[in-house]
Amino acid sequence: MASHGNKSEEEAAISEAPNTPISTIVIIIAMQTEALPLVNRFQLTEDLDSVFPEGVPWVRYRGVYKDLNINLIWPGKDSTLGVDSVGTISASLVTYASIQALKPDLIINAGTAGGFKAKGAVVGDVFLAADCAFHDRRIPIPVFDMYGVGLRQAHTTPNLVKELNLKVGKLSTGDSLDMSPHDESSITANDATVKDMEGAAVAYVADLLKVPAIFVKAVTDIVDGEKPTAEEFLQNLAAVTAALDNTVTQVIDFINGKCLSEL
Ligand code: ADE
Repeated sequence: MASHGNKSEEEAAISEAPNTPISTIVIIIAMQTEALPLVNRFQLTEDLDSVFPEGVPWVRYRGVYKDLNINLIWPGKDSTLGVDSVGTISASLVTYASIQALKPDLIINAGTAGGFKAKGAVVGDVFLAADCAFHDRRIPIPVFDMYGVGLRQAHTTPNLVKELNLKVGKLSTGDSLDMSPHDESSITANDATVKDMEGAAVAYVADLLKVPAIFVKAVTDIVDGEKPTAEEFLQNLAAVTAALDNTVTQVIDFINGKCLSEL
């Protein structure tokens, strides 16, 4: 047994963890279109012996890339309607189940997002979110209001941001693609540059289970622009997904061989 001076084994494990190279990564991606290029790039294979409960549509792709065990988790298609299981409920469930089963060192939530031109976003930009909060959980009672907003910080990655020259902004999450006037004022209060449908939910579960998480979001549509969101989103999805996948690949290459404290 290694000697840790006066520390208990548990204390030693906690204090030594940041100095150990990251070994297992879970990437949470809501849409198949966003996930499959990364599955191909990292030559991941679908895990047919699922770590998830029988019957759920959640899919785990796994593989070894350089020194990393990569797990890409896609919540799959809704069993009834056959569309991607986007949104906060599926995102929370797969994040919880993945952490329980795979004990990752780091979670990466990657996906597309709406961007605000008033905050400098343009279509095709890829942002690293500094923090995540909800914009559709309005509870106007003291302290419950803050619980609803659910602000969580992403793991700090100053070296990653610098090396990859990434844009940084705040992320606001809600379960709608469009934006109601109520959502808009909450998003403004959240000071968000990008808006998605999963980030703050992943952040909540990651924080609950004390797993560091980062958020990579590529802009498919400009929320405060002229075009209808759904149309602009679908029009740009394929091209922006390519930009997202390039950045996620660069992020993974950067992470390889590093400890959490070096990011
Ligand atoms: N994903 C892509 N565009 C989005 C938007 N405008 N709102 C929420 N999620 C998105």
